[in-house]
Amino acid sequence: MSINKSIPHDSGIAHVSGTARYTDDHPLPANAVHLAFGLSQNAHADLTSVDLSAVRAAAGVIAVLTADDLPFENDVSPSIHDEELLSSGSVHYVGQPIFLVVASTHLAARKAARLAKVIYAEKPALITIDDALNVGSTFGNPMEFRNGDPETALKSAPRQISGAIEIGGQEHFYLEGQAAFALPDEGDIIVHSSTQHPTEIQHKVAAALGLPYNAVRVETRRMGGGFGGKESQGNALAVACAVVAHQLQRPAKMRYDRDDDMIITGKRHEFRIKYQAGFDDNGKLTAVVFEHFVRCGWALDLSHPVADRAMLHADNAYYLPNASIVSHRLRTNTQSNTAYRGFGGPQGMMGIERVLDHIAHDLGLDPLKVRKANLYQTGGKQETPYYMEVTDSISAELVDKLAETSDYVARRAEIAQYNANSPVLKRGIALTPVKFGISFTLTHLNQAGALVHVYADGSVHLNHGGTEMGQGLNTKVAQVAAHVFGLSVSAVKITATDTGKVPNTSATAASSGTDLNGMACKAACETIRDRLVEFAAEHWNVAADTISFDTGKVRVGNTVLTFKELAAEAYQSRIQLSATGFYKTPKIQWDRMAGRGRPFLYFSYGAAVSEVVIDTLTGENRILRTDILHDVGRSLNPALDRGQIEGGYVQGAGWLTMEELVWNDKGSLLSHAPSTYKIPSCSDTPEIFNVALWDGDNFEHTIYRSKAVGEPPFPLGISVFMALSDAISSCGKEYVALDAPATSERILRAGDKLRGDAW
Ligand code: MTE
Ligand code: MOS
Repeated sequence: MSINKSIPHDSGIAHVSGTARYTDDHPLPANAVHLAFGLSQNAHADLTSVDLSAVRAAAGVIAVLTADDLPFENDVSPSIHDEELLSSGSVHYVGQPIFLVVASTHLAARKAARLAKVIYAEKPALITIDDALNVGSTFGNPMEFRNGDPETALKSAPRQISGAIEIGGQEHFYLEGQAAFALPDEGDIIVHSSTQHPTEIQHKVAAALGLPYNAVRVETRRMGGGFGGKESQGNALAVACAVVAHQLQRPAKMRYDRDDDMIITGKRHEFRIKYQAGFDDNGKLTAVVFEHFVRCGWALDLSHPVADRAMLHADNAYYLPNASIVSHRLRTNTQSNTAYRGFGGPQGMMGIERVLDHIAHDLGLDPLKVRKANLYQTGGKQETPYYMEVTDSISAELVDKLAETSDYVARRAEIAQYNANSPVLKRGIALTPVKFGISFTLTHLNQAGALVHVYADGSVHLNHGGTEMGQGLNTKVAQVAAHVFGLSVSAVKITATDTGKVPNTSATAASSGTDLNGMACKAACETIRDRLVEFAAEHWNVAADTISFDTGKVRVGNTVLTFKELAAEAYQSRIQLSATGFYKTPKIQWDRMAGRGRPFLYFSYGAAVSEVVIDTLTGENRILRTDILHDVGRSLNPALDRGQIEGGYVQGAGWLTMEELVWNDKGSLLSHAPSTYKIPSCSDTPEIFNVALWDGDNFEHTIYRSKAVGEPPFPLGISVFMALSDAISSCGKEYVALDAPATSERILRAGDKLRGDAW
């Protein structure tokens, strides 16, 4: 058995020994050129003049390109063609590329890019959510999902609360920055890109060069992290390299330095969520009204599906009778925000988790009691606000089990006692659940292909449409292939993702990589295995059902031979040992405009308990202990799944606590380096970190009954935010509506406010 096993990441040793090759590590021919963008210093302006003479004259500069030099499409948008590669006359955020420097070295290109003399005719810039709201700057009309009669139910509710929460964005901070290079190839072009979406790179490059798709081949061996930041943000570099390589007929490479990366690329969407809720004396919800204000940035990018997913997760794991969820997509003069792990889902969940925390405070109840009163029932048929029946909920049992194993009740009592005797340090604890919908909400993206070869020596060569960004997708898909052939994983080689091998792929995103590509790979392998069985049955004259594959051996009736021997025999008998496989997700259908349907095949579940301590004199805080119980169905690889759960939780906690993006009023990002933008490090992980996997199959027929794991654990980090809220609330009576990120400054201010009452 090669599945349900903790097999190490196929590149694990290479990652830690420095031999894993990333895009920037590829040796290039000596005549390669290096690129850098010249960036707008203004958030919103027309370009009065762009004097590039000093740039052109700088040491090492080979060429400088502007929008006028682009032969075909000047566009790198993943959606509505609203993102120029190089500005054709106006700029919409600080960091927008205006021109492209081609030089003999990376450093020469960067240095020269600073020498431009640009004169701007400044226009009013919209930086914040309020700026956009004041002038009604949006992408399209507001969207709404609604069920029941929320307004009437709200009025007649026994109790009510209302409020708002600000939720900051998040920089992806992949360890490997954006990078690409392009090689001219007899009029065609080969692109290597650090991207989650090789097919989109192929399409954008083809459009920029006026070539058909078959003249562009894109290869991605691996990324040093993507986290959604490489779904669309790699387009600009790849297109720039391809245009230059094509024009100069020389290899061209581009990578962003960290500052440029942070200044140029989009991030997690910042949200403001306004809420009104009606409930009874037990905290059971009778009505909820949410209004989402989403800062999309200057161009559309993936903002509609991201904001949609926030609406689709406004219920998180709770049944919301009488709900209205309205979403406003705001256009601002800042980076164009993009996909980020959870794709808006975590922001949507923050809304309802805040509501339940607020209700618990209002009623003086343990927030866990209030949460439990509202969870989707097990075996129930309750509908989401978008009319999908939730039939697979395990939230209630999962939450109960975690509360028990983490000793929640006793610890909560102990913490209350501790806080009563501790004037400065205050502890807090919170348990929050997650329910995350699996499938792309754009239905046609839920398809995948694979290409499998068995060579005459029995070794297996595998390709699929997904990309490896550290999550272990290649390892899991190799496990599937090995399992079908009864081989060990070491007999299966997965090669770089390549648009020439598997075409028309979707981005590796929405956590669907293994679900989709694992199934496509299984189909391809089974086609080959079926041919081998048919051949062996005939060749050795036995019934097909006496043939089995296990541990590198094949049993054919009473004969046992190695897989290698069978492959050699089959080759001699002219059996085709190569096949493609294809998969499309069944059962889903979604009418986005009506807000109705079944956008997801199933849900992944989980819950976390976090305990924190804050210093009320400094705002300093840390996580003391974390317990997680997470549902990955029948795990294909428990070690990799655990890695995703731990990493997702910590990244989610970072988003809501220490990671703070700051722009000045001119729209310049001030936090554009690790010196000013703090992500969690190893020392920020909880000292006690208990992670357990829920024991159960996926109810749906997914790949060996496993569940997707890439994004669902991210919002487990919400428990840290709620634990901080709990710690703060022990300082006084009033409810402190904490905003995110809960930085030390915010915690200090909140505590100060309450201490005024308490002391
Ligand atoms: N894990 C690592 N190590 N690096 C990453 O970049 N990206 C996350 C998640 N886990 C990411 C990661 C995101 S945003 C997604 S959508 C999924 O992995 C994508 O991979 P999967 O579909 O194979 O789970
Ligand atoms: Mo993940 S945000 O869907 O790349």
